[in-house]
Amino acid sequence: MDITHSSTEPEKVSQKPPEGMESDLSKLANNLVTKFHVLMRISQIYDSKNIALHQFIQESLQTINTLIKREGALSLKIVKDDFFLNERRLRYSVEGFTSFKYLLTQWKKRLIGEVIFKSPVDERMLREFIYVLINLEEGREENATLFNEQLASRDIPSIEVNSLEVVEGEEEAFTLQKEDQREVGKKVFFETIGTIKGVITQIKSKQYADVRKLKRLAQKAVHLVIEDESILLGMTTIKNYDEYTFNHSVNVSIYSLAMGKRLGFSKKALTELGITALLHDIGKSKIPREILNKPASLDEEEWGMMKKHPLIGVEIVLNLKQLGEINPRMVVGIFDHHLKSDLSGYPKLFRKKEVSLFGRIIQIADSYDAMTTSRIYKKTPYTPEQALALLLRERTVHFDPVLLKIFIGLVGIYPIGSLVLLNTRELGIVYKPNHDPKWLDRPTVIMVARSEKGDVKKEVVDLIETDGAGRYKRNIVKTLDPDKYHIDIAKYFL
Ligand SMILES: [Fe+2]
Ligand SMILES: [Fe+2]
Repeated sequence: MDITHSSTEPEKVSQKPPEGMESDLSKLANNLVTKFHVLMRISQIYDSKNIALHQFIQESLQTINTLIKREGALSLKIVKDDFFLNERRLRYSVEGFTSFKYLLTQWKKRLIGEVIFKSPVDERMLREFIYVLINLEEGREENATLFNEQLASRDIPSIEVNSLEVVEGEEEAFTLQKEDQREVGKKVFFETIGTIKGVITQIKSKQYADVRKLKRLAQKAVHLVIEDESILLGMTTIKNYDEYTFNHSVNVSIYSLAMGKRLGFSKKALTELGITALLHDIGKSKIPREILNKPASLDEEEWGMMKKHPLIGVEIVLNLKQLGEINPRMVVGIFDHHLKSDLSGYPKLFRKKEVSLFGRIIQIADSYDAMTTSRIYKKTPYTPEQALALLLRERTVHFDPVLLKIFIGLVGIYPIGSLVLLNTRELGIVYKPNHDPKWLDRPTVIMVARSEKGDVKKEVVDLIETDGAGRYKRNIVKTLDPDKYHIDIAKYFL
């Protein structure tokens, strides 16, 4: 049945998006997924007779029966990694993502691919249906058949389920695509390091610096960050001590791009931000190596020299003709990156000004990367957690608190690359923060197996996974210092 021709919603016809469903139905469908999610979760906690369930079941019934009445029948089906409601792909909202993912995982585990409501249901039917569903043994092939038998014996003829359809080769195709992106990510990452190294060398020796390639790579990085930021973010854990300056520029660029993405920047603005971040310390190429690499603290004259690097950077960038038209915000971004919110940084200004948005973004990315990398004057770097704590401590005077919040959402409260101890006494490395801000403490982690021979990567697990009783399978107890455990974090991201 085609809802666009329904007489109740005539004005929606012309607004129908090309794929998916119109907003009203989409809202109901999202609501249905959320209700299913909560129903499954609370049924794992309470028994089927519990009174607390009553209210919630009533609300769920309303959503389900409204949809059945409107659509005639209701089919919720998994196709690959999407839900289809009566053959139309469900577009989930940002808030709905958690429920969407939960349902997808839970149904897939039980090999259930479709639930069909043929006619309206009542409270008893829904209760029993949910209990049969959650009590299905995971991974048993006959689940759909057994489920239907149970429904029949309990006199619930209006609900029917079907097995999960596994499209031949789908799993491999999916991982292959991911792997491909990872390969592209690696290539862009290392090529950018090589290219920035070339540019710096050229500037140092007063040669003509070729930055066209840098611009192309920044565009590629923007594309990758938009597709899946976790790939490049993972690469920032590669801290190459010998090539600090080059690695640092690329890392700052990755963090900045991921922030810009969250701020809703256009591709053009993102590319400009990426290039600005890559070149933020370009002024250092004119500062003597002895000062840059001095193990002891700098004397006053040396500091004076060091503090000139933002201004020298501006000068260099203005002379890079190949960058094409240079947007003033790129130049200002470089100038501003050590100013700090209260202007207590450098260069010293004659007149008060606001720190530019590019400057504020780069400043956070810059501080975080510098703190988490070992340097000649600070051999043991801060752990990601310590670095975040330090940034937070200075949030009002030195940083933009809103941007800092975005940054923390990006790296997670357990930032990518943190070594964590789980309550199961297992070790894990944070691989990807949870999409949902309310589960910042439940990232996806790579499990680490340790033996006399060293450490190796095991499976990747999502910390929102629960057991049959609805309890989380694993929790983070604390972060650990990878140096003490002799674990090379970067290895896990390559
Ligand atoms: Fe700098
Ligand atoms: Fe820097």
